[in-house]
Amino acid sequence: LADDPEAGKKVFAKCAACHAVGEGAKNRVGPHLNGVVGRKAGALEDYKYSKAMTEAGAGGLAWDEDNLTAFLANPRGVVKGTKMAFAGLKSEDDLSNVIAYLETFSEK
Ligand code: HEM
Repeated sequence: LADDPEAGKKVFAKCAACHAVGEGAKNRVGPHLNGVVGRKAGALEDYKYSKAMTEAGAGGLAWDEDNLTAFLANPRGVVKGTKMAFAGLKSEDDLSNVIAYLETFSEK
């Protein structure tokens, strides 16, 4: 199944070591992910991103579904020098589902 936020919530367990999302979510090792879908990369004022991520956002990278899919499959392939130490999700369903989950916390 794809585009399933309930399944995506389970996938998010792999992200939750570093990221919070939902009401009251705070920055942790990684930035909180409320509102991330559709936003420019590296845009939270109160989180210290890598230079690579800040520059990617300044250069026009925004987290639409395609860019999120590519980043979450291979973070360093999309933002060379990112400090997100995560190997990436290999399953297309996991990718689509975790993005559907994040969408439930974004305006879109
Ligand atoms: C950045 C999602 C796993 C640490 C980001 C960003 C997204 C994201 C969308 C960019 C945020 C922005 O531009 O505001 C996810 C998802 C994960 C995951 C969905 C699971 C599938 C992890 C894990 C870690 C981590 C496991 C820690 C080991 C970070 C850090 C950044 C980041 C440190 C900032 C990167 C930088 O400034 O270069 N993550 N992440 N993430 N994530 Fe993750």
